[in-house]
Amino acid sequence: MRLLVTGGCGYVGSHFVWAAHEAGHQITILDDLSGAGKAPPLPEGVRLIIGDIADAHRLSVALSIAPEAVVHFAGKLRVDESVRDPKLYFDTNFTRSLYVLNAAIKRGVRVFVTSSTCAVYGPSDAPLLETARKDPISAYGYSKLAFEHALRSYGDAYALRWAALRYFNAAGAHRDGFLYEGHEPQTHLLPLAIDAALGKRPPLTVFGRDYKTPDGTAVRDYVHVEDIARAHLLMLERIVNGSGGLIGAVNLGTGIGKSVLDVFAAVESVVGAPVPHSFGFRRSGDAASLVAVPTRAGQLGWTPERSDMRTIVEDAVRSRTRAR
Ligand code: UFG
Repeated sequence: MRLLVTGGCGYVGSHFVWAAHEAGHQITILDDLSGAGKAPPLPEGVRLIIGDIADAHRLSVALSIAPEAVVHFAGKLRVDESVRDPKLYFDTNFTRSLYVLNAAIKRGVRVFVTSSTCAVYGPSDAPLLETARKDPISAYGYSKLAFEHALRSYGDAYALRWAALRYFNAAGAHRDGFLYEGHEPQTHLLPLAIDAALGKRPPLTVFGRDYKTPDGTAVRDYVHVEDIARAHLLMLERIVNGSGGLIGAVNLGTGIGKSVLDVFAAVESVVGAPVPHSFGFRRSGDAASLVAVPTRAGQLGWTPERSDMRTIVEDAVRSRTRAR
């Protein structure tokens, strides 16, 4: 397939690009390099157009390949930042995403796969099915949910076949260690914990120890970024081959929750050094617990293969010890 991949230089996007390239697809990336500030290693033959997704000219050049599908990763992803700056989140994750969708439809694209998030759900103590109540506690979650609604409406009206993959906590790195989680600034737990244990960063703060969870720290469902990349490929192939029916929104998680302290213990056992930390207040927009019921993804043929915490941490450590 000819694929247009927005945000293909980002953390999840770059893992997808390598997986899609290995599967034989022809890839053009549109990315403004705002995620990590520079392009990751890319497979030979992949075309990179550097630009904003809302730049009409660049978008038009990118779409001139007549892609059979658009895979849309470009977006903002920090829950706390979205609470402070909702405009940035609605602008990027909804308005600019809509530019991409509209331009793609105009060019005749009828397959669209987008990254979504477990932040679309409301606070819940129970594991989350796709049908769970949507009551986001952050502008990030709302902006992603709004775009899902647009896709649903477009699907009905314009015969668009789409999937919105709701990632739980993407983590880990490519098994060969040449791609890594390079957000700038880095705010995600696992890279911060690894770098602190390796002595590359100062001790980190645990945001809250008074949640109603077994050890009082927040619980998340960590899923390996390579498993997430493979899920995009699978859903894309199912949509294009017409074997997936209506895919729509799908949870990508393992069904297993790990607390912040569980993550520290895993890092400590892989690195062989403790994670220096102190305890602080809760971070705004954070939920106590977010764990998937991943049944639907399983029915569609996806099972996580590298998402046990040990493999996630080993791959992440390998990538960070090599990190430039
Ligand atoms: N945490 C700390 N200290 C830190 C960083 C994180 O205690 O320095 C905690 C957070 O409070 C949270 C957990 O570690 O409880 C995980 O935090 P991350 O920042 O790594 O990830 P988030 O859960 O905030 O965000 C992720 C994805 C989003 C997704 C979101 C849903 O990045 O895309 O999960 O909440 F939407």
